[in-house]
Parts: sequence; C-alpha cells; structure tokens
Amino acid sequence: MNRIRTFRVFPSWTLCLFLLMGLDALAVEPNPVVLDKVTASTPLKDGIEIRSGLAVMQITALRDDIVRVRAGATGELPEDASWAVLPASRMSSVPVVEDDNATTVGFRTKSLRVEVERATMRVRMTDLDGHVVQETAAGRPIEFHGTSFRIYKDMPASEHFFGLGAKPGPLDRRGGAYSMWNTDAFEFQASTDQIYKSIPFFLSFDRGMVAGTFFDNHWRTSFDFGKESHTAYAFGAENGPLDYYVLYGPSSAQVLQSYVWLTGTTPLPPLWSLGFQQSRFSYYPESRVREIADRLRKDKIPADAIYLDIDYQDHYRPFTVDTKGFPTFDKMIDDLHKQSFHVVAITDLHIAHLPDAGYAPYDTGTAGDHFVKNPDGSVYVGKVWPGPAVFPDFASQSTRAWWGTLYKQFVKAGIDGFWNDMNEPSVFDSPTKTIREDALHVIDEPGFEKRVATHAEMHNVMGLENSRATYEGLLKLDPDVRPFVLTRASYAGGQRYAATWTGDNSSTWDHLRLTTPMLLNLGMSGFSMSGADVGGFIGTPQPDLLTKWIELAAFQPIDRDHTNKGTGDQEVWVHGPAQEAIRRRYIEERYRLMPYLYTAAEEMSRTGMPIIRPLFMEFPDATADRHPIDVDVDAAGEFLFGRDMLVAPAHFPDELDDYTVVLPSVGWYNYWTGEKVSEAATKIKIKPELAVLPIFVREGSIIPVEPLVESTDETPQGPLTLRVYPGRDCKGSVYLDDGKSFAYRRGGFLRMKFTCDEQGRELTVHLGPHTGDYAAWWKNLNVEVYGLTKSPLKVAVDHSDVRLQPSFDKERHVASVVVPDDGRGSDLHIELAK
Ligand code: GLC
Repeated sequence: MNRIRTFRVFPSWTLCLFLLMGLDALAVEPNPVVLDKVTASTPLKDGIEIRSGLAVMQITALRDDIVRVRAGATGELPEDASWAVLPASRMSSVPVVEDDNATTVGFRTKSLRVEVERATMRVRMTDLDGHVVQETAAGRPIEFHGTSFRIYKDMPASEHFFGLGAKPGPLDRRGGAYSMWNTDAFEFQASTDQIYKSIPFFLSFDRGMVAGTFFDNHWRTSFDFGKESHTAYAFGAENGPLDYYVLYGPSSAQVLQSYVWLTGTTPLPPLWSLGFQQSRFSYYPESRVREIADRLRKDKIPADAIYLDIDYQDHYRPFTVDTKGFPTFDKMIDDLHKQSFHVVAITDLHIAHLPDAGYAPYDTGTAGDHFVKNPDGSVYVGKVWPGPAVFPDFASQSTRAWWGTLYKQFVKAGIDGFWNDMNEPSVFDSPTKTIREDALHVIDEPGFEKRVATHAEMHNVMGLENSRATYEGLLKLDPDVRPFVLTRASYAGGQRYAATWTGDNSSTWDHLRLTTPMLLNLGMSGFSMSGADVGGFIGTPQPDLLTKWIELAAFQPIDRDHTNKGTGDQEVWVHGPAQEAIRRRYIEERYRLMPYLYTAAEEMSRTGMPIIRPLFMEFPDATADRHPIDVDVDAAGEFLFGRDMLVAPAHFPDELDDYTVVLPSVGWYNYWTGEKVSEAATKIKIKPELAVLPIFVREGSIIPVEPLVESTDETPQGPLTLRVYPGRDCKGSVYLDDGKSFAYRRGGFLRMKFTCDEQGRELTVHLGPHTGDYAAWWKNLNVEVYGLTKSPLKVAVDHSDVRLQPSFDKERHVASVVVPDDGRGSDLHIELAK
C-alpha cells in the first residue's frame, strides 16, 4: 500500500486529522516478523540456535536450572550486554545434551528439558519429570513489529504471579497489566501502574512449583497476566533486546537464589540501618534537628538515624550546605554521633544549572562533559528542586567516577548514609515528568559497545546507575565502611547498591494496607532492604493510624518515619503519652529482636531470601489444591518476618470488626502470650485492639533476642536470650559482627546454630559452638522454653551433675534458665512436667 493511494480512500476530514497528527501517522507498518516455524537449527555446546526464516533465536543453559532465550528479527542476536546481570553469570554455561526428534528440536540439562516444535516454534521447558515450567501459548508465536515484540506463554488457571518490584495493587499479579517506566508517582494509589522502579522479574507459582522469569530489557516494557487473555500471559517491549532468563525452582527460595546469582545480592547492610530511622521533609533549621534527636533520647524511643532532607542545602543545590540554617553543620553531625545517631543526607542527582557561579558540581561536571545532552548537542536543562538543573549521564563510567568524588566533603564531615531521590529522573517542567526521550546519553561501560543512546533507552536504568555511582564512590572514599544508600528509582540488580523505599505514599488506612504487598513483591524482586514511609508521606495521619503503622513497620526491613513538607508532626510522641507508649513498645520489640533481624539480613545478603516473605515461600503446600495461601481473602496482609514469625495485621486496619487469621497447619505459638495455639487451629478469630499487632511463631523455631538498647551502637548488657518454641525441625541461629566494616569477610563474625529435639518428656536444646573470630557481647545464654503450662522438673547441662533451677512464668507460658556460654557449645536436657 503506498501513501498516495492511501490518501485517496480517506475522506478530507481524516486528511486534516493526519496532518494534525503529523505524517508519522501515515507511515506504513512493515510486515511483522513472525517466529512460527523452525527453518533450521544448530546444536550448540550449551544450547541451540534456531532460525525461522531470517529471524534467529538462541536458547542456552547458563546453569542446569537457568536458561536464557535471546532472539533477533533480522538474523542477528541483540548485543550481549546487561546493566542488571553480573558478567560472570551471563557468561556462564553448562554443556547440554542434544535432544531432537521428528517434531521437536532441543536439549536437556541435568534439571530441564527444552523443546521447540518444528512446525510452530513453540518453546516448551519442562523438568525431567515432564512438569511444564513454561510454554509458548498455542497459536501465539513471537512477533516483531518493527522494533517492538511480544512473547506469550500458556497460563493455567492455577498459576499466580508475584514480583515486578513495588507496583501497588494486590500481591498476586494475576489479572493485571503493567508497564515499566520509572515515574515520580507522587500520590500514587493502589491502581497506579508506572512507579519509581522497573524490575522486570516475576515468579510464577503453579500448584506449589515456582519458576522465575527475568526479562532483561530496560526500555519501556509491558506485562499482562490475564487481562488480555484468560489463558495466556505476555510480556514485551517497544524496543531493545528480546532477552529473557527462565529460572527453574521448583522452590521459590531456589528461584530467588538464582535471581541474585544472576543480578547480585544485597550487600550486608550496616547494622544501624536496621534501627528506627526518623525523617521529615525537612527538619530545619539545625536547632530543630537537635531538638528531634534530644527528644528521641529523652523519651527513650530507640533510634539509630536522623535524615536531612533538601532544606539543609543552599537553595536546594546538591552537595552544598545552607550555612544560615545550619551554622555548625559539621559540629551538629559530631554531636548527633555522640548521641549515637547516624546521619543520612539527601543528595539528589540533578545538579543546579549555575554557570559561572562558583558551584563546583556544575563547574566540574561541565568541564568533564558529564551531563545529558539535547539532540542538538546542547546540555539538557529541566526544572527540579533547585530550579533549572542538569543531569549527570550515569551511563558513562567516567561520569559515575566523577559523581563519586562529590561525596568527599560529606564523608569527611562524618555523614553516614546518602539518599538518592528524584532519580527516575523527575523533571517538574516537562509534560512527561522526565527528560525528553530523544535526549542523548553516551554508553561508555565495560562490556557494552561504546555508543550514543537515547533517553528512551537509558531512562529506566538512570536510578540504578545513579545509586551505583554513589555506592562505588563511597566505597572508594572509605573502603572499609559499608555504604548505606537509599534510592527511589532503580532497575533489576539495583539491590547491589542501595536500599529503597516505596516513595510518596499517603497517610491513609488504605496506604497502610498497601505497604505489605508492595514490600513483599519488592523482596521477591531482589530488593529486600526496603520500607515505606511510616505514617505516610502525604497528609497527616490520625493518631490510631500512626500507631498501627509504627506497630507494623517494626517488623519490616526498613523502619523510617517520614512525611511531607506542610504536614503535621509525625514523630512517635505526637498524640500524647498513651499513644507514645504503645508506639515505643513496638520499636523496643524491634530492637530486642535485632539479633534475629540481623541474622535474617545476613541470610538475605548471601542467598537472596527476603527478610519479609509471603507465606507461600515457607509453606508452598499449605492449601489442599496447592494455591498460594497468601491469595486467600482471610490471609490478606499476613507475612512472615524472617523464617519463623508470622505477622497478622487486620486485613482492613481501620475496621473495628473481628477478623480471621489463617495459619498454615504446622503448629504455632502466640508470640505475645507464649501460649501454644491448638494444633488443629488453622483459622483464628482476632478482635482488633489498638495496642496489639498479632504475631505467631512457628513451632520448631529458636529466636535470638537481646536486652533493650537505645541504639545499635550500644552494647547490650546481659545474656543473649534464646526463645525456644519446641516442635518439628526445631532450629535457629544467630549471626553477629561489628555491624559496620567488611571485617566479616575476613573472618570477623560470629555464628551460632541451635536445635531442639523433644523425646518423650525430655527436651534437648543443642547450643552450637561459636564459629568465626568475632567475640560475643554476652557471657551467658538465657534459654526460654515456651508453650509450657507447668514448670520443668529439672535441667541438666551436657548430662553433667550440674543441675539448674529453671524459673517459670505461668502468664507467659515460659520456663527460663541461664547457662554460661564459653563458645564451645553445650546441650541442655530439660525434663518437662506432664
Ligand atoms: C520526594 C521524595 C520525598 C522527599 C521529597 C523532598 O518527594 O519522595 O521522600 O521528602 O522529595 O526531598
């Protein structure tokens, strides 16, 4: 169809419309390239290469349980490079066994079979028992339309989807359609799609079996889990590589472990970042910061960090200090340190556009040619907090290195953590709220071809590379201090550099309810070090809402109270002593649980297992038909804090009615009363109370807790307590180190493992030896056994003659005994009363 003939058949009004729309609207779409037939195939050492006419597809095995699929419409595979995947993982391969027959071509690994139907090019991956892991939807071959493409997969009725980062809405992504374009989503709601981060990774859960799909395309991508079709899900992109990885589980823990093998683990965070953090936009002036710090200590609210939002800067210019408002800035930081606070300062990525004004970040950035350009080669300028601003081009390693040097003065002044905000990037005076898509970046990065790229290509990785530049810069300045970076925008793999939060939420009950699915999905997308603004950012929370929020956040990885400019005070003490007392109690509980939380954080940093988890991660078979228990209405809002603690807030926290908590049928204890919940109970009715957040502990767990401290800087005084909840597969552990340096990599850590075993009336608690070189702060262990209605008869250590007299607390259903811990380990034999 040529353009002239097309014109003739349209009435004149359509012609006017086309002229208004621009001639692009008339461009004739090229024929799609459809990958619907295998026309040739070549076995590879680690997979297979397939041709479908001109198009090419390569399926390779990185490991026996990880397969990568790449394709190109014009005979060439996309560039083999990635901002997310670690080069060593991307380059990994395992040998495969060729497996062709009359109807299919393919291969086998030690865990998977990959077959591609010759007649249709349908790709099917199964485990070695023949269970389908993933399969192209029938009749939906890959189609390229110009640069865009889409991939369709079969979607059984029993399949559920999780991940995709912090997108709001229900935990299960089934039934929804989503697109990835990092957006400053101020005032987002449950129905908001485009949000601050783009993490094109999801888990699919089908009857207890889990697989992961990572679609490594950072252009604008889209996902559809049943909106377009009830039998197929789909993902695609408008441009960029067709490049995705399938991660075989079948457990979700294995999938997440594979995902962080691909994209990197979260580094072990500094211990203080797990403490309570106090923030607002903004504490100003300096005297107000000091006032907040003093009040936290005076009111004995345990706390570890105070944030400086943009008002500490001179005219909102990053890397400056408003010396009028903060006349003794460096001394203020020293004084806060003396009170055992850590200070986090915001450093947004936009650099004020201030030629010839002596503003060093602008001058040095211009001298080094570090800013994003317009198509005509001039520097792109957009308005943000400081007014007109320019944007570092983090796609280039030299720009990242320059950015890192900007932190020198602040690190010298002792600032402990840095907050990279607005890095979608947000632009106030742009109709798209961001940099124009035809702006130009330079990719200058090992592993990539050096070239100019449009902002449309680089947009979704700006936040990732911004936080990377910060993290790497801080490491260079202080190589033996674990950096703490908090970022708002990111892409897959960003967990290597920064923790994150869910952005500008609101002080409403709905938003309190939204935090849990958002944080759970972030945790399943690699970002376990995450939190939501406690109390809500936009608006002023009602007293009960703030209290309930503080209760819940005590059991979430990052616990930061933060609010917007112009809102009411939101600190723990507002609303009077009765509310404050409840709030304090929950923050104190978080601090008592710090050994448990830090142990979970250490596990996360090694294995990718998130600190908070949906129930299905620990109990994939909890329901009769093996659907994930979390999608049940009664289980809404529940989550696991670490492996063992089930937190069960009301589903609708503003409602006064009783609600039901669903428990997987393994046996549970009430965390607060110590009582054993009846074995048969899988549903419990709860009467909501302002001062109570229901928590249950799984039987067979041993939870380490410490004496209360006011900050993680303080050394706990007294024994380490082990809360033992007898039951099957009883275990627990504790991990400890200096909390700040990398000495743990050189052996400077302490790990202890515990088990318990009940034989008849004897409960044996095995206290393992210390491993690692780090010295414990405790001399004794206080072993508490829960769920008892009577005092134990006797306690012996290692079957010796030493008899210990347990104390018994009937109210808390607990017997306790203190034993010395010399690091060599011991067994306690506890004879339980009938
Ligand atoms: C953005 C951030 C918010 C911050 C504010 C001022 O809205 O999301 O957390 O307080 O900017 O820096």
